[in-house]
Amino acid sequence: MNQSEFKNQFAEMVAEVEAALREYISVKGNPQKTIYEAMEYSLLCGGKRIRPVLTLAAADVLGVSREDVKPFACALEMIHTYSLIHDDLPAMDNDDLRRGRPTCHKQFDEATAILAGDALLNKAFELMSCSALKMNNPLHGLRIISDVSYLSGTEGMIGGQVTDLESEGKTVAETVLMHTYSCKTGALLKAPVYIAAEAGGLRLSANTHTGEFYEKYPLAEAFDEKVQRLLRYCEIIGTAFQIKDDILDIEGDTALLGKPVGSDEQEDKSTYVTLYGLTRCKEILSEMTEEAKGIADSFGEKGDFLREMAIYLLERNN
Ligand code: IPE
Ligand code: IPE
Ligand code: MG
Ligand code: MG
Ligand code: MG
Repeated sequence: MNQSEFKNQFAEMVAEVEAALREYISVKGNPQKTIYEAMEYSLLCGGKRIRPVLTLAAADVLGVSREDVKPFACALEMIHTYSLIHDDLPAMDNDDLRRGRPTCHKQFDEATAILAGDALLNKAFELMSCSALKMNNPLHGLRIISDVSYLSGTEGMIGGQVTDLESEGKTVAETVLMHTYSCKTGALLKAPVYIAAEAGGLRLSANTHTGEFYEKYPLAEAFDEKVQRLLRYCEIIGTAFQIKDDILDIEGDTALLGKPVGSDEQEDKSTYVTLYGLTRCKEILSEMTEEAKGIADSFGEKGDFLREMAIYLLERNN
């Protein structure tokens, strides 16, 4: 597979996801229709759809049916979009442009943006739980919900957003930055593998009750070596994705990016670029891409899409 074949496949997968998303989010003619309009505004305009596409791709690699993971892939995109709406709020990164349009709080107002984010998060869990109930083995769906909650929450995306905000205006250690990136960005990029593996019933120990109030989900060790390898691929592209995002925040073109360039400097963010400089960051990015390509290759032909994905993520300009 070459880049242009990859891009065609990618576009087909995006179309598949967007058709499903459109079905889940339709503007209703009830008194609270503003909230649907705000959700639709942020969810259904642009967005690269990396996370849902990765979910379909992970399913392909693991031999799981795409239909089984599709609603969860859509839920993941809803959670991601909610995180962006809140990330752009004045209390966080204070940005006015997202996905090529005014941010949700600019188009509507702050209260509506907060509620639209909350509503997308709830819609995601409504969709996942309804889908779990329809599965042949609802326990598999329940495990996806457990994993996705963990990855989106205090140990995952939200945790990373907290340390990201706390690192503003400081010089933080590399370990802190790595933790932030692995949580704020990496967690939602690893979710696709957990979704596909759980949907396929690939958890090795189906009943691993520890006696604790809740199990420490999700653990890579609960899966076989192949799933763990796929998780490692996502771990790498997750951090690399954020490093590329930081580079684009400096060198990107707002017209292509669909979000403001220079936002990190304005907010005095601690990033890989502030720590290592642009040149070293680009080297790190290339090294990470090579490692990700190596893992993709280890899946043989089935890894072709992931290999090209790593290249696309390195070269992207939006
Ligand atoms: C932006 O994510 C936030 C980061 C984690 C860097 P994306 O770059 O995937 O944003 P969309 O979904 O394409 O708009
Ligand atoms: C945000 O990282 C990651 C999220 C969890 C939303 P950034 O703040 O760098 O993302 P952008 O640049 O605004 O898309
Ligand atoms: Mg941010
Ligand atoms: Mg931001
Ligand atoms: Mg950014």
